[in-house]
Order: sequence, then structure tokens, then C-alpha cells
Amino acid sequence: MNGRGRFIAFEGGEGTGKSTQAGLLAASLDALLTREPGGTGLGEHLRDLVLAPDGVAVGERAEALLFAAARAQHVEEVIRPALESGRHVVTDRFLHSSVAYQGYGRGLPPAEIGDLSRWAGDGLVPDLVVLLEVPPDVAAQRLARPLDRLESTGRAFHERVRAGFRAMAEADPARWVVFDGDRAVDALAATIASVARQRLQLTDG
Ligand code: TMP
Repeated sequence: MNGRGRFIAFEGGEGTGKSTQAGLLAASLDALLTREPGGTGLGEHLRDLVLAPDGVAVGERAEALLFAAARAQHVEEVIRPALESGRHVVTDRFLHSSVAYQGYGRGLPPAEIGDLSRWAGDGLVPDLVVLLEVPPDVAAQRLARPLDRLESTGRAFHERVRAGFRAMAEADPARWVVFDGDRAVDALAATIASVARQRLQLTDG
């Protein structure tokens, strides 16, 4: 592979199928698959801490900093070295999740959360952001399992998150691509792979 790898982030609310689609695109591009919060030892510990449904109290600013800390370690330990070695990287969530959830959702200023997240990630921004959207009732059906701390936050919160993702996608159409996640998994995966190759100017195969 020549040059720096491409960096692709999947974003969206819970129950949109983004983890499944991130895995399928990573396989199709032979990319490294990772996730946030997580992807490193520290990140997985922070994931347990920040998502525990009945864990210790976590205030809004502390929550933003914990996601940012997980991101800092993730970029330094995993993402940047892979990209520099020429490997493509697909991540299940990245900095726009912080802007959507801690910014639009919690009500902290989205621009400040964006600055914090870019600082944490040493300026790294995805080459392509794939946003998956599904109607709220479909997402709720797909989440028929015990909910984590953020998933169990109210419906109005998740509507603000959804609107935040949509606003970011509309503001930066060269970087974002939006798909209806309420489609057959394989057909959607094929469409995403084809659009991603085209946007990233990657040849087939
Ligand atoms: P998921 O990746 O399994 O969907 O769950 C991660 C949860 O963490 C999800 O509720 C979104 C939330 N989250 C944030 O609130 N901010 C962030 O920066 C990230 C990466 C995730």
C-alpha cells in the first residue's frame, strides 16, 4: 500500500446498525477495525467506567473529558501508527460522537466539545464520516437488551443527538455521507463500500 492509510468513522445513534456496517466495511477495505470509547487498554477501562448503568456519578464535563481521554490514547496508540504505516482504519465512533452526545445532547457548547476533541486527537479528523440513520422506533426495537448509562438517557436527549449528527453532516457534505440504516444488511454494506471507495479514491479489490 502506498502512502498514508485512509481514516473512516461510523457515526449515528444506538441501534442504527453502525457497528455491523463498520465491521463489514473494514473487511471490504482490509482496514483495521476499532471503536470508541475503547480500542486500547485505557479506552476499554474508560468505556466500562463511563457507560456503567449504575456506576459512580459522572458529571457532564467529566463525561466529556473521559471520552476525550479515551480518544487521545486511541489516536496515539492505535490510529495514527496504523495510518502512518499505510493501513486504512475504520472506527465505530470518533470525535463527532462527542460533539453530538456531550455537545448537542448534554447541552455543552458543541464548538467547545469539537475543540476539546480535536485537541485530544492531536488534530486528527476522519477523511470520511459515514452517518447511519434509522427511525427512532426501529432503533428502539434493535436495542432490546439492558441499556447502558447513555442509552437509558431520555428520548429528548437522543432526538438532540440525532439532530446534531444531521446538522454536522449537512454542514460538511464533502466529509460526510448519510445512509438510511433501515435496509438489508448486505445491500447496505455493498452501497457503503462502493461510495467509500469512490469518495476516498480507492480502486476496487
Ligand atoms: P456504542 O459505541 O456501543 O454505541 O456506545 C458508546 C456510547 O457512548 C453511546 O451511547 C455513545 C456514547 N459516546 C459519547 O457519548 N461520546 C463519545 O465521544 C463516544 C465515542 C461515545
